[in-house]
Amino acid sequence: MKNFKYSLFTIIISLCSAFTINVKAQVNKFELPKLNYSYSALEPYIDEQTMNIHYNKHHLAYVNNLNKAIVGTEAENMSLEEILNNVSKFSETIRNNAGGHWNHTFFWNIMTDKKENKLISLNLKNIISNQFGSFENFQQKFEEAGNKRFGSGWVWLIKKSDNTLEVISTPNQDNPLMDISQTKGKPILGCDVWEHAYYLKYQNRRADYLKSFWNVINWKKVEENYNFK
Ligand SMILES: [Fe+2]
Repeated sequence: MKNFKYSLFTIIISLCSAFTINVKAQVNKFELPKLNYSYSALEPYIDEQTMNIHYNKHHLAYVNNLNKAIVGTEAENMSLEEILNNVSKFSETIRNNAGGHWNHTFFWNIMTDKKENKLISLNLKNIISNQFGSFENFQQKFEEAGNKRFGSGWVWLIKKSDNTLEVISTPNQDNPLMDISQTKGKPILGCDVWEHAYYLKYQNRRADYLKSFWNVINWKKVEENYNFK
């Protein structure tokens, strides 16, 4: 009888553990966001095949890997922004994939195929021009920072806590929201300069890709980012 009770207890515990593991494996806290345009919408500046692979393979992998990596960590109960703000506490896998998920979500949203959203307001243009001397100087700084990024990374226009703007670049999937970032600030514009973002169309010509990027920017969204408190 004693052995029977012990066996029954073991079976119940095993079933409970299996159920818990199963439930945890099924929880997908983070999801691939909806794309607001078709894969071919940004042609000829960003080609359909690149968009498709970038979104469905690369971004999806960051999301899936992040969901796996956070299991059993404090990050399970944090928002994506909270994870980034505390990223030094977590593994490199969480850092890379949380950054990858946030950065790509941001990137899709600051591009558009809609003509009306591509127009920059006089207000925002003046703010940027006053900060960098001229709008053309800003564009040159942005392209330079993107071209100088060794290996893979991102180039950003950020708004700092004193409301000034700065162009910076971060390696890999890091971003200026992370507590480990040398320069912190709120990204209002950003461009992915990983080869996977441009190689199919531009091969090694990152400079050409960065020049093309100006044709697909959703300045309406960039202004919203600037004004967001
Ligand atoms: Fe990317």
